Amino acid sequence: MLLITRRSSTFEFPVSINVIRVDDDYPKAQLTSAFAAHDAVILSLNTAAEKHHNAMVDASIAAGVHRLIPSVFGGRHTPAAQAIFPVARAKAQLLSYVASRAAQLAPASPWSYTALCTGPFHELSLRAGFYDISPQTKRATLWDDGTTPFSVSTYAAISQAVLAILRAPDEARNQIVYVSSFVTSQAKLLSIYKDVCGAEGWNVEYKSCEEGIASAKEDYAMARDRMSGMRALGRLALLSSITKGGGADFDAEGLSCNARLGVEGEDVKVVTRAVLQSYNV
Ligand SMILES: NC(=O)c1ccc[n+]([C@@H]2O[C@H](COP(=O)([O-])OP(=O)(O)OC[C@H]3O[C@@H](n4cnc5c(N)ncnc54)[C@H](OP(=O)(O)O)[C@@H]3O)[C@@H](O)[C@H]2O)c1
Repeated sequence: MLLITRRSSTFEFPVSINVIRVDDDYPKAQLTSAFAAHDAVILSLNTAAEKHHNAMVDASIAAGVHRLIPSVFGGRHTPAAQAIFPVARAKAQLLSYVASRAAQLAPASPWSYTALCTGPFHELSLRAGFYDISPQTKRATLWDDGTTPFSVSTYAAISQAVLAILRAPDEARNQIVYVSSFVTSQAKLLSIYKDVCGAEGWNVEYKSCEEGIASAKEDYAMARDRMSGMRALGRLALLSSITKGGGADFDAEGLSCNARLGVEGEDVKVVTRAVLQSYNV
């Protein structure tokens, strides 16, 4: 396994990982040579780096890679979700480029892609307060009645899915696959927070999704620093899942590939309790 990063990255990788660095603008020639001789490329880019995504897709084709996992790793890209969450819109464009490259290549081409949709990363969402539930202040905002279900994945489930895609390359050729650890809702999560942090003293507000979408869009447009931008984006991500037409319950939508890929479901209570306790909540 080889990890490719930009030259100026200050991230400290474990010493056991073989890392190579390319110039900061990820030149196609350097990527092609780094990808060559590898069976698969997994792209994991943040929003600021996504402008390089399509050139990386092209480099993976030029290098003779067999399977590309594009930088998707999010929720649905329904028209309703895209209208609310700018990241869903951007990911839909990345996916459309990848699909167009697959369509241009001859059917016998060894190159193919599998895009992985996971819903929110559960550990990150708990830590960052993206479910609009704060154990520190014991405040929660439940959108509509808080019971709209949505699919969520832990890092363990995401890793299992990536491994399954790489181990069975014919299984999900040129497809989007959906996996999750469980389907949950804000109300269900709040009841787990209450179990862990005590049921007394919570201040729970109920607001409409429409109201939340309008104010989070405004907050995002007005954000003056990275943190406030991230907070507004996190709220838009949640609202894009639970809004009408968000389609974020992969089981109910008939999209779940857990069984096909051997991704095991998890118990939302057990996992959430363990994560909250590990954060000393
Ligand atoms: N579903 C969810 O809840 C969820 C949550 C978070 C992320 N995601 C997805 O997970 C994937 C990884 O996202 P992340 O936010 O965790 O990424 P990240 O680790 O912050 O960054 C990933 C890579 O992008 C590079 N990068 C960052 N800023 C750059 C810039 N301005 N120019 C060029 N390269 C840059 C980083 O290099 P450096 O080390 O040099 O910075 C790193 O190699 C993405 O597909 C993202 O959409 C999903």
